[in-house]
Amino acid sequence: MNDGAAAECGSGGRFLCRLADIAEGGGKGFWFGEDTARFGVFLIRKGDTVWAYANSCPHRFTPLDWLPDRFLDRGGRHILCATHGALFRIADGFCLSGPCAGAHLRPVEIVHRGAEIFLAEI
Ligand code: FES
Repeated sequence: MNDGAAAECGSGGRFLCRLADIAEGGGKGFWFGEDTARFGVFLIRKGDTVWAYANSCPHRFTPLDWLPDRFLDRGGRHILCATHGALFRIADGFCLSGPCAGAHLRPVEIVHRGAEIFLAEI
């Protein structure tokens, strides 16, 4: 399954953070690489569930966050693109409204090892 939700797994990946490093009902972003190889990933947490997506809006491929680690709308119900205001479902990255309605954020596979979260692969 690669829907952005965390999987329980005993191996793999690059360390991102501990679950407690993500605010409840909030998000956390990460950047890797440089120049043209640079890419971003962000996590959204609700309780013990974490979703992970590439930090790239399907409309113009810009980062979604409007401030560091701020990926959600005011109510914390949807992921918000800061550039043109598209709203995405947290659970599957589906775009509900905005210029890319019907598109999806790209899910990123993560693994939990205890309280630590890792990228499954890069
Ligand atoms: S770049 Fe995200 S809605 Fe336009």
